[in-house]
Amino acid sequence: MTPDNLRPPLLQLQGVSKTYRLPRRQLWQPAPQVQALHGVDVTVYSGRNVGIVGESGCGKSTLARLATALDTPSSGQVLFEGQDLHRLPRPALRALRRDFQMVFQDPYGSLDPRMTVARIVAEPLSAQAGTSRLEQRERATEVLAQVGLHPHDLDKYPHEFSGGQRQRIAIARALITRPKLIVADEPLSALDVSIQAQVLNLLLDLQQRFGMTYLLISHDLAVVNHLCDEVLVMQQGQVVERGTPHQLFTQARHPYTQTLVNAVPQIAPGRARALRQLRAKAPSNLV
Ligand SMILES: Nc1ncnc2c1ncn2[C@@H]1O[C@H](COP(=O)(O)OP(=O)(O)OP(=O)(O)O)[C@@H](O)[C@H]1O
Ligand SMILES: [Mg+2]
Repeated sequence: MTPDNLRPPLLQLQGVSKTYRLPRRQLWQPAPQVQALHGVDVTVYSGRNVGIVGESGCGKSTLARLATALDTPSSGQVLFEGQDLHRLPRPALRALRRDFQMVFQDPYGSLDPRMTVARIVAEPLSAQAGTSRLEQRERATEVLAQVGLHPHDLDKYPHEFSGGQRQRIAIARALITRPKLIVADEPLSALDVSIQAQVLNLLLDLQQRFGMTYLLISHDLAVVNHLCDEVLVMQQGQVVERGTPHQLFTQARHPYTQTLVNAVPQIAPGRARALRQLRAKAPSNLV
């Protein structure tokens, strides 16, 4: 029996499909639909990071939103530690949200420009009952330090930070409830290459210190290779291949995975070297 069989999964998507209905173009025509996900199965065990890769529009962000109960599936189930998120009463779901958080694709759009960093970072805690303002501020100070920012940053606004710093703020917001799972939707794609490496390094460091698990979404196999134990390859709303990064790099079977793998050496050697160098350095370089 493998250790995986002994532990209940943190997150399970079972046969999940999602159809979006678009606005009608003409009154007499039926509303067009987009099927973003078709019968997707994903299992994430505690301590084993899972990566999702795939081309733009293949359904990665949809999957992330369903996995964190920000949207509801058209069919199928999303279970967190065995509990069906989309059948839980609202107060129970709100309480369970402590255990899973999301880092969004765009650090520019995902932080409310009218809110101070203190409010942004404490938001997941303030949505939970029973934490005083003072405790929220103390926890916000603590998580800002964990991502390499300073207590005096608490009273600033998002526009006062660089892209890399904003992504650190978004990561601090996700950390504040001490979640078991962080779903990170392309956390690096809006950042330039050297800063990508530092933020990836921070994610690795935080996992070593606090033991959370990542579901990491990326269109970049090289990034997923550094962080994940298992990778799922998606195309047009379906999982077309899954395996360890090593298996995908050495024995990809699906033509789309082979295309992804073949694309990596053209863009990655310098980057892979930079990532390795950064991983060897102290983690909290400011960006
Ligand atoms: N709210 C929505 N309403 C209608 N269609 C949507 C909505 N969100 C996503 N879609 C459609 O669902 C499909 C999957 O979109 P999704 O954002 O999940 O892709 P993605 O893999 O995250 O792409 P990217 O790599 O560009 O971020 C796309 O065809 C998209 O146009
Ligand atoms: Mg997306």
